[in-house]
Amino acid sequence: MSLPIFNFTKIESTNDFARSLITEHKIFKGIIIADEQTKGRGRYGNQWSSPIGNLYFTIFFPILRTNLKKIQFLVQLQIRNILKSYKIKNITLKWPNDLYINKKKVCGILQESIVSGRFFLIVGIGINVKSSPKIKKYPTTYLNKETKKKINLNELVEKLKKAFVSNVIDKKYSLKKIAKNWNKYAFNINKFINFKINNNCLLYTSPSPRDLSTSRMPSSA
Ligand code: BTN
Repeated sequence: MSLPIFNFTKIESTNDFARSLITEHKIFKGIIIADEQTKGRGRYGNQWSSPIGNLYFTIFFPILRTNLKKIQFLVQLQIRNILKSYKIKNITLKWPNDLYINKKKVCGILQESIVSGRFFLIVGIGINVKSSPKIKKYPTTYLNKETKKKINLNELVEKLKKAFVSNVIDKKYSLKKIAKNWNKYAFNINKFINFKINNNCLLYTSPSPRDLSTSRMPSSA
């Protein structure tokens, strides 16, 4: 699959740029990478600290609306596999979109969907590679520290690209398999996410008090 790649030394936000490519330039899939972001965004309107040396990667592509929710779990699992390829241990997944190493946040994912004729998914991934910000609410870490090596950013980008092309974009998703794997690596083993299909809807219950609601999506699974 050919995915155009947009490389920036500096950009406001790779996710915002993806949005403008879809809506203004009618480019419907691609990858955006930046060395640093000046307005990096996290979830809940938070800022995402984006100095040089860490990874800022956004991939966007058309998607069936019915697959939107499932993909967020699959993406976390793909990133977990990539981190594992660096022989990192104790990698866990935290609701809704974070990855932790030894209970310290190393990666955040900002998934956004837009409708512009069709549905498009924008997946923004931030991985702490060379440094991690000090955050009051949770501890953080970075890959070079955990691996005691200097991780090559280009290699990391290639791994991400390959994972999306081989296992995510235009694939059929088995909710059963995704749910089983996700819960296997959940951050807090006593707080599983409850996935179920009911009336052709994907239902899941979040373990986080902040998101403690049942979310409903029409599902094809
Ligand atoms: C979070 O944990 O709150 C999500 C952080 C997502 C950060 C990434 S970095 C690449 C992409 N561009 C952004 O502005 N945000 C995402």
